[in-house]
Amino acid sequence: MEGRASIRYLYACVKDCPGIQTTNMSESFDSAWPNFWNQRYASGETPWTLHAVPAAVRSFVKRRQRRGTTVLIPGCGTDLEVLQFFQTAGFEVTAIDFSRVAVAQARKALGNFDGQIICGDFFKFDFQNRFDLIYERTFLCALHPRRWPKYAKRVAQLLQPRGRLAGIFFYGQEADPPPYPLSQARAAEVFDNTSG
Ligand SMILES: C[S@@+](CC[C@H](N)C(=O)[O-])C[C@H]1O[C@@H](n2cnc3c(N)ncnc32)[C@H](O)[C@@H]1O
Repeated sequence: MEGRASIRYLYACVKDCPGIQTTNMSESFDSAWPNFWNQRYASGETPWTLHAVPAAVRSFVKRRQRRGTTVLIPGCGTDLEVLQFFQTAGFEVTAIDFSRVAVAQARKALGNFDGQIICGDFFKFDFQNRFDLIYERTFLCALHPRRWPKYAKRVAQLLQPRGRLAGIFFYGQEADPPPYPLSQARAAEVFDNTSG
């Protein structure tokens, strides 16, 4: 019964977010594809979800808060508390995730949220504008490290000239990635080479 319920739910989400097509089974095992994430959100297996605003984010925003500041939240998933927090703090929020299930869950849970929650690929979506701030939590570590240079270039492309990337990044060890952990050395390598 549980399986049927999640299939029905997935179907409802597909209707809600028709821009991305369904994918085959092998894509369910590769975190580069939306299906990998769709399955986890549909079954509620989302151990990364914090259900809270990290203290570091609260103090970062307190120091920089300015009404009308634009923030992009890539790989937002169902980080509802953070989406709400940025909006309440006066930011113009744009969030994006390529999991249609996550986007449908977030839209439903947030109701009449003023910001935009886009169902799309961070690397391909045409945002039409640049942002003052890009905030992410556990998005980079969801990507294979070979994509990190592309991530850094994309972030640089989407930020205003004096814009900033702020995030909660995963450092440490992981025997069975994702998540793919970052290190100080790798961070310097990836982010210091965004112009090439
Ligand atoms: C580990 S989850 C983190 C979710 C959220 N930031 C949080 O803290 O709860 C990573 C998220 O990145 C999304 N994602 C992965 N690759 C993506 C891409 N290319 N474009 C948009 N979203 C992507 C996944 O669908 C998933 O929701």
